Amino acid sequence: MARTIIVSNRLPVKVQRDDNGDLQYKPSEGGLATGLGSIYKKGDNVWVGWPGLYFNDKNKESKKEVTERLSSENMEPVYLSESEIKLFYEGFSNETLWPTFHYFNQYALYKRSYYEAYKKVNQKFCDAVLELANPDDTIWIHDYQLMLVPDMIREKLPDASIGFFLHIPFPSFEVFRLLPWRRELLDGVLGSDLVGFHTYDDMRHFLSAVSRICYIGNQQGQITKDRRTIVIDSFPIGIDYDKYANSSSAPSTLSKEVRFRTSIGDQKLMLSIDRLDYSKGIPARLEIFDIFLSKYPEYQGKVSLIMVVVPSRDNVEKYKDLKEEVDLLVGRINGKYGSMNWTPIHYFYRSFPLEDLSAFYRMADVALVTPMRDGMNLVCKEYVASKLDKRGVLILSEMAGASKELSEALIVNPNDKHQVVDAIYKALKMPVDEQEKHMAFMQKTIKKFNIHHWVKLFLDRLDNVKERQKTMGTKVMDTKMRDDIITDFKTSDKRLLFLDYDGTLVPFNSDPQEAKPDKELIDILHKLTSLDNTNVVIISGRDKNTLQNWLGDIDVEFVGEHGVWLKMRDEDWKTIDNLDNSWKDEIRPILEMYSDKTPRSFIEEKDYSLVWHYRQVETGLGELRAREIISHLKYLSSNMNLEVLEGNKVVEIKNLEVNKGKATTRWIGSGKKNKFILAVGDDWTDEDTFKAMPKGACTVKVGDLKSAAKYSVKDHEAVRELLGMMADS
Ligand code: UDP
Ligand code: G6P
Repeated sequence: MARTIIVSNRLPVKVQRDDNGDLQYKPSEGGLATGLGSIYKKGDNVWVGWPGLYFNDKNKESKKEVTERLSSENMEPVYLSESEIKLFYEGFSNETLWPTFHYFNQYALYKRSYYEAYKKVNQKFCDAVLELANPDDTIWIHDYQLMLVPDMIREKLPDASIGFFLHIPFPSFEVFRLLPWRRELLDGVLGSDLVGFHTYDDMRHFLSAVSRICYIGNQQGQITKDRRTIVIDSFPIGIDYDKYANSSSAPSTLSKEVRFRTSIGDQKLMLSIDRLDYSKGIPARLEIFDIFLSKYPEYQGKVSLIMVVVPSRDNVEKYKDLKEEVDLLVGRINGKYGSMNWTPIHYFYRSFPLEDLSAFYRMADVALVTPMRDGMNLVCKEYVASKLDKRGVLILSEMAGASKELSEALIVNPNDKHQVVDAIYKALKMPVDEQEKHMAFMQKTIKKFNIHHWVKLFLDRLDNVKERQKTMGTKVMDTKMRDDIITDFKTSDKRLLFLDYDGTLVPFNSDPQEAKPDKELIDILHKLTSLDNTNVVIISGRDKNTLQNWLGDIDVEFVGEHGVWLKMRDEDWKTIDNLDNSWKDEIRPILEMYSDKTPRSFIEEKDYSLVWHYRQVETGLGELRAREIISHLKYLSSNMNLEVLEGNKVVEIKNLEVNKGKATTRWIGSGKKNKFILAVGDDWTDEDTFKAMPKGACTVKVGDLKSAAKYSVKDHEAVRELLGMMADS
């Protein structure tokens, strides 16, 4: 049966040694582990990850015990050595990627040794998955620690169904580009079929990085790489709503609440729960509480902050520094305002089991969730789910992904301390009916978009992407298909080949003048045209003079300017009769206006068309201007019987009645019926050619799979290989 293999750096269970050296198994903290914790136990599913403990050679026995225990609970451990923990986990993951992705790039270290270890450990995870995976399994890789794994798996299992989800923010291109290994990281992730983020902004940032760094554009979040369609989308993660709602009314939680109340007193309570992390804004929150108590002194003695800080990554320098800073601040505020019968901040540097957290959630009048940056933040959702009486107010940072869904919270900018202070005041004063109204709204949202919904949405979408890839009409040409085509070619008594030029016979070049034919290509064309009964038509958007200059010495025929000009064997160039050219005077000034404001763009004037080129324009700007030109000309062109074509880094305006497909009818319409016809092209202007071909023709798209062609090949080299084999037959 097909399984889901979940892969993340940390397993949902953390193995530790207690003071006696005995092994302990505890639930891991953090959004990822708590979020997916309810899923992996189903059926034969399995979770591959690190159990969080280092074993040396002397503890072989306990390592075996851990492996067996975890396997019996659907987990497959990947063990990390001491140096891997240092360089991969603490190093590249948490001193390079974590700060960069959370916009703390001033904290980021760029060390080659870190990246090398990251690569090695990602390979280790990949190998662990390959050991387990069957062809129809779904592989779901999680988070920033494993960004290279999707492509590593893809290399070994080209047809595997691979999803990737990033649980932290994806930063804007300007920040992401700072990473020396930005390209490798993107290529790694793009080994997936589906890539998910918490928010639309994360997804947008990722697509922009892919466009600027890998030069791959997208259409509504879909990109094509190595002839595979990859879908990028946002899937905000939810929580196990029922688990938190049920735990909130469990007898063990209620008795915990009574105990906590007795020791804390009956003040109003504010709550914050985070891992110790600079992205969580803990010092700023303490400063805010300080300002609040001095600005509204009437609350001194009346309100306390319960602050749970869960130890995290404590070998990483910045986390150690933060711990000291937080300790100092808490001490200072408690010293400044505290009294014999009132402690302003109840500070816990430890983790708590669910029943204790539920008791805190129940007791808190206000939850203060003010990260500087957070992928989602589950604590705020857990707070809402735990409020069975709907009383309580959530103050939520706009920098947390959750703020996009929980807009009924008091949304704040954590850098605007006075705004947060006023939000606390407002929360403490908020009438009960207003609290209930907001809470009810938020509960409705997170109840529906719970963790089960999230998992289903992601996995269903992945299935769907995979299905679409399989049913795509265009097939990747394998060697068998290629050999069959060559046999057809050989056994046919009349052959006709339509070959596009740029991107098909030569690589797409940013300088159009650099695309001259080289010796290899000239030889292939010479050989082909010297075969009996073989016609080769170069069918291009280029002007006739260039085609004539570059290829005129070979016995090929031509379609130039997308079909404006034709040259058949032993004939002169001719054009379609009565083509109107007067429209150019109206369109040219419009293109000039765009060229004037777009450095490095230029206009090419062909006999019967105008082309605006942006191959050398700054990525992004060129695409933007192209969109502007197309919408500017849309109305005008339909009135003038013109067509506006969007090609590879060009916008071309030409007569509506001219296209490559129509031009081919001159050849196809004549001669014997049973001939071998081949059409090859890379651009979407070649789609007209493919569509105009008779049923039995062999059509080949260079580049991707979204085409009317029957087959797809990778690049111009694959085309040359195919033609070379025909020429030698
Ligand atoms: N958590 C926990 N024990 C604790 C404190 C927190 O298990 O003592 C859990 C909390 O319930 C939440 C997760 O840790 O599910 C924190 O996730 P969040 O998305 O808020 O932050 P992250 O740690 O992923 O950055
Ligand atoms: C965040 C990350 C997770 C990580 C968790 C705890 O939630 O997105 O990938 O597991 O923090 O951090 P740790 O370093 O202890 O695994």
